[in-house]
Amino acid sequence: MTATPGPASPAASSGPSGRSVLVTGGNRGIGLAVARSLAARGDRVAVTYRTGEPPEGLLGVQCDVTDEAQVERAFKEVAAAHGDVEVLVANAGITRDGLLLALGDDAIDTVLDTNLRSVIRVAKHAARGMLGGRWGRLVLISSAVAFTGSPGQTNYTAAKSGLVGLARSLAWELGSRGITVNVVAPGLVETDMLRDVRPARMDQYLAMTPLGRAGSADEVAAAVRFLTGEEASYITGAVLPVSGGLGMGH
Ligand SMILES: NC(=O)c1ccc[n+]([C@@H]2O[C@H](COP(=O)([O-])OP(=O)(O)OC[C@H]3O[C@@H](n4cnc5c(N)ncnc54)[C@H](OP(=O)(O)O)[C@@H]3O)[C@@H](O)[C@H]2O)c1
Repeated sequence: MTATPGPASPAASSGPSGRSVLVTGGNRGIGLAVARSLAARGDRVAVTYRTGEPPEGLLGVQCDVTDEAQVERAFKEVAAAHGDVEVLVANAGITRDGLLLALGDDAIDTVLDTNLRSVIRVAKHAARGMLGGRWGRLVLISSAVAFTGSPGQTNYTAAKSGLVGLARSLAWELGSRGITVNVVAPGLVETDMLRDVRPARMDQYLAMTPLGRAGSADEVAAAVRFLTGEEASYITGAVLPVSGGLGMGH
């Protein structure tokens, strides 16, 4: 029996490291931990930052992911410095919580635009370059609450569960070109985002988390590192929870 050949892969000659990576929202929180972890692996890592300063030691491209012109410019800047993006981590995200009847149109539109529409936008830019190279890794950062539901987060959970359908459709569209598309679904993770969660709600989440604690951004980064590496070459359309068990089984 002959072995089934895998997709054409530049990594076969150059090893798994040294890829051109773009992490959106990579200036802090989970995105920064992912960027640092992939840079430590030897990848050429760029991050988008919307506000403030870019993190030291990484290529920072200023970009609001909801703005098509800024996204286009960011991809050009990364391509000029590092080559076409081969690994995209669509991480930028926000919350604007509120119960449905109190949720203004702005909170609905901004969250859907940032957390879902912009992921389609950046995936499209990334896929263009990946198709030519016949190799690519897309990782979309969703959330465990996409599966459990979460009162007060209809906008957020609608966007985050939308990423699953997006990833699976893209997995079909891009699979024949050696491009994988996967979702990472973090549970409670210690970042600035948790500052807006009320203490009583935190206790509820922790009670729903078998490991009984929040995770670290580095623990999420480890999963992204795996999915973007050569070891994960036969995984696509998957949802990998990094949640201490919160929302397991979905
Ligand atoms: N922390 C958690 O418990 C948790 C759980 C599940 C899922 N997640 C998801 O994980 C991802 C990262 O979250 P985090 O916890 O690291 O949050 P964070 O610390 O609040 O960081 C959010 C990042 O997204 C960026 N961002 C937001 N809107 C943007 C826009 N329009 N354009 C460009 N960048 C934008 C922010 O940039 P600025 O610095 O410019 O604002 C920041 O870099 C998000 O998608 C979030 O939904 C987090």
